[in-house]
Amino acid sequence: MGAGDDKPGSTYRYNEKPVYTTSNGAPVEHPTKWQRVGNSAGGPLLLQDFHLIDLLAHFDRERIPERVVHAKGAGAFGEFEVTHDISDICSADLFQGIGKKTPLAVRFSTVGGEKGSPDSARDPRGNVHFHESFAIKFYTNEGNWDLVGNNTPTFFIRDPTNFPVFIHTQKRNPQTNLKDATMFWDYLSTHQEAIHQVMILFSDRGTPYSYRHMNGYSSHTLKFTKADGSFVYVQVHYKTDQGIRNFNNEEAGRMASENPDWHTEDLFEAIRRGEHPSWSVYVQVLTPEQAEKFRWNVFDLTKVWPQKDVPLRPVGRITLNRNPENYFAEIEQLAFSPSHVVPGVEPSADPVLQSRLFSYPDTHRHRLGTNYQQIPVNRPLAAFNPFQRDGAMAVDGNYGAVPNYPSTYRALRYRPAASVSHEEWMGKVTSALFGEVTPEDYVQAGALWAVLGRTPGQQEALVHNVAVHLCGAHEATRQRTYGMFDKVDAALGRRIREETEKNVKNPTSQASGRGRRRNPTQTRPQLAPN
Ligand code: NDP
Ligand code: HEM
Repeated sequence: MGAGDDKPGSTYRYNEKPVYTTSNGAPVEHPTKWQRVGNSAGGPLLLQDFHLIDLLAHFDRERIPERVVHAKGAGAFGEFEVTHDISDICSADLFQGIGKKTPLAVRFSTVGGEKGSPDSARDPRGNVHFHESFAIKFYTNEGNWDLVGNNTPTFFIRDPTNFPVFIHTQKRNPQTNLKDATMFWDYLSTHQEAIHQVMILFSDRGTPYSYRHMNGYSSHTLKFTKADGSFVYVQVHYKTDQGIRNFNNEEAGRMASENPDWHTEDLFEAIRRGEHPSWSVYVQVLTPEQAEKFRWNVFDLTKVWPQKDVPLRPVGRITLNRNPENYFAEIEQLAFSPSHVVPGVEPSADPVLQSRLFSYPDTHRHRLGTNYQQIPVNRPLAAFNPFQRDGAMAVDGNYGAVPNYPSTYRALRYRPAASVSHEEWMGKVTSALFGEVTPEDYVQAGALWAVLGRTPGQQEALVHNVAVHLCGAHEATRQRTYGMFDKVDAALGRRIREETEKNVKNPTSQASGRGRRRNPTQTRPQLAPN
């Protein structure tokens, strides 16, 4: 988009010629003139030159904190359309009536990299996007519902205290400031509940060709509730209508240097061309009674609900049809949170989800300020919350003279809540982990190994993708990691061991012959694992 384009819906008409002013609106004679004592030969500048001082001061503050995770991303706008009636399980407004459309915003992101990091990468120096993410904000008639999911149906952790430490190991070494394969595998091989997610990440689905060609999942179990007081547990899937398409490991690595912003560009250009990407939305549903008897703990984020046991039920379609006009205003300032729910949707008791309910609004208050919900892209279609007042950047009129307490002089209407018969919890306060890792934790990873075996080359890709990365890790960490894969499948463990050790011994050729990177453990001093 050139700066000269006039687009429908643009705030600014580029073909008009507005008068350039200072930020307080005073017309400026020339944008690059500045004041000083003396003539062009010299002389100090003047503090009274508000135009220059203000320009610099504002520039000095252009950056806001980047997201602590998911800093690199792209987004777009569109709609959700109901294609199938699910009013028998959920009373949320957006699902009521086939054909009903709800506007939405989507932000895709990678997880561990900084804001300028490449969109596609998985290499032996530890540059791994441990998955890609797919967050959706539905602007429903009863508030914003944020579905803040990933392109994987599972996750690495099930104990929330592990999140910050896990993220540390996947980011940079505190001493070298480098990505570090030893840290990466040291954590994963000592927290083997992550094995299922590791297998998904290191299959070729870990390096999607583009954001348009990957699925999204709520990953967590959520609750759908109804006005009659009943509820069900659900997992939400949004499957790409463009078809799954992935890079292999080497293509992803090459793209990371040739076009590090490829995913961002692909999304923007496709929408600009009028090729509007879409995803079909499904839910898996379990009643509380079924969940109780289910083989898998529905609050264990490392597990899926096998589809032969819990089939996908179609719900609707997500379509992206509009690019942002301004990236910072509309995408960088988007603030998603799993706690932004609407009547009909509830969080489940999954402890990772419960922790996220706190973490996201907390980070928004830090990243965007306490009034982050007033930023236009975050503003609900209809919000009336006059008991939240003041604070930095209260820019929406601050509710004028409306009472800031439940006043007898200015009545409010309250929507009667559905009487939902939630789970009943009772027990002693405990401080246990979610659960020790048991043989059950390798079963679904084994199922995935079998799924990969259905497509020629996919098992080989997994082995290769692990081997070219793991070869960069410390010896003891490698050995422990082989043991982890042995527990999924003996042949998988053996093949990973063989290919990885071949790479360690022969770092320049690497197993596929395509490797171009050297084993970092041989090119710099061994660092003690952190
Ligand atoms: P099914 O045979 O019923 O389903 C297979 C699933 O595997 C499909 O959802 C398919 O997704 C997905 N899949 C295919 N290739 C890959 C890959 N490279 N990486 C990740 N997922 C892939 O079996 P189950 O439901 O019993 O699941 C078997 C395994 O499949 C699980 O252990 C899990 O690892 C994985 N899986 C399961 C999902 C679920 O909700 N049950 C969802 C996604 C993955 P698609 O239809 O999009 O091609
Ligand atoms: C972003 C915390 C687990 C998906 C973030 C951010 C934080 C965070 C602080 C930055 C938000 C911002 O600055 O706007 C956590 C914590 C977790 C956790 C504490 C576990 C205890 C997960 C899981 C998923 C997930 C399990 C997916 C199922 C996302 C997505 C984003 C994000 C999609 C990017 C949102 C955006 O595009 O703005 N997370 N996270 N996170 N997280 Fe998590």
